Amino acid sequence: MSPLDINIIRSKFPFLKTIKNKDFIYFDNAATTQKPETVINAISNFYTNENSNIHRSVHRIGAVATKKYEDTRWIVKDFISARSAEEIVFTSGATEAINLVANSFVKPMLCETDIILASSLEHHANLIPWQMIAKETGATIKMLPIKKAEFIQNSLEQEELDYTINLVELKEFLSTHGDRVKFIAAQHISNVNGGIQDVKELTKLAHSFNIPILIDGAQAAAHIEVNVQDIGCDFYCFSGHKIFGPTGVGVLFGKSLLLKRFQPYQYGGGIVQRVENASTIFREAPQNLEAGTPNIAGVIGMGAAIKFITNVGLQNIQKQELSLKKYLRSKLNKIEGISIYQGHNSLKLNKLFSSPVFSFNVNGVHHYDLAVLLAENNILVRSGDLCSQTFMRVLGVSGCVRASLSFYNTRAEIDAFLLSLKKAIKLLKG
Ligand code: ALA
Repeated sequence: MSPLDINIIRSKFPFLKTIKNKDFIYFDNAATTQKPETVINAISNFYTNENSNIHRSVHRIGAVATKKYEDTRWIVKDFISARSAEEIVFTSGATEAINLVANSFVKPMLCETDIILASSLEHHANLIPWQMIAKETGATIKMLPIKKAEFIQNSLEQEELDYTINLVELKEFLSTHGDRVKFIAAQHISNVNGGIQDVKELTKLAHSFNIPILIDGAQAAAHIEVNVQDIGCDFYCFSGHKIFGPTGVGVLFGKSLLLKRFQPYQYGGGIVQRVENASTIFREAPQNLEAGTPNIAGVIGMGAAIKFITNVGLQNIQKQELSLKKYLRSKLNKIEGISIYQGHNSLKLNKLFSSPVFSFNVNGVHHYDLAVLLAENNILVRSGDLCSQTFMRVLGVSGCVRASLSFYNTRAEIDAFLLSLKKAIKLLKG
């Protein structure tokens, strides 16, 4: 298969080729991605031929299910270049991964004078858990400084506002308050503007003040190569459904020594060595963090999704997405009264790429109305605050329209989207 042959790629995704959906233009990939048939088949095959619980049974089918589940830990380990499979915890998604770190690792070490740093660019999932544990312990949550006022020339030779974390200001803050900061949480790629944070430099800075850090990679793993050893972060998380896998499954990467310090916040079968009437000895991480029967089919499906990405090649995916991004950006810019909230890529390497996410507003038109009219033309985008109300406040808007592309989208779809968008604007402006 030629990975860049988009017709072949699209034929691998049942959603994109069924007659029922053939008129849909799916530009809501930051919300969730479509699933290739290898993923659907892996899940279907599990339930059809291999359905069994794991880590419990001596029968052959139980052993097959256990092996496939545990093999996926290795697949994930390789995908994000973790040191060992023991560093991979399966969760229900990025949200659960963040809540797990917040409640099992950070909360037990917090006291009233402590500070947690997150940013106002975060998805609610990487903000509310920190607010809640701060509230419960009396600690304070503060926002990481953002370079929001700086205009920069981007790789597409246009100006954009730099909404990335201001590491210089952060260093100054940590120099005076560093001893009180107990944890930093930040995104890798924004779900609003596709901007890429320099998480490696951020991690270096955090570690120079002995502060552990979590990176929310929910919007990154389908678009850029993630190497947790290179980033150096203590925790990294992502969801299966945003990388062409199933919903209800995700990953928490955590450095082994830190995972060992977790105090599980839920208990049950599968995580114990010995149980007495009044006490229990637990297994070590990651097993002690996966109580109960996990989403076995989901984990296996996520493994198939990672294999799919690896077969296509992230570089091929990026090349395709960059080309779509340039094309859409050049045309979208020409629409009168449009404000595009395009994110900046702060990576030193791979300067050309940033995620193909376009959030925008058009003067005099409500984002909700635009999304409804686009939907009537079978163009599926998201609108509203994008689960990022604090970022909306930074942008000075209540919401926006978001068209988020994936490598399986086409220029013809972009043309159809633009045509419908222009018609909708004309209709709404009267
Ligand atoms: N986090 C997803 C989004 O941004 C749901 O749409």
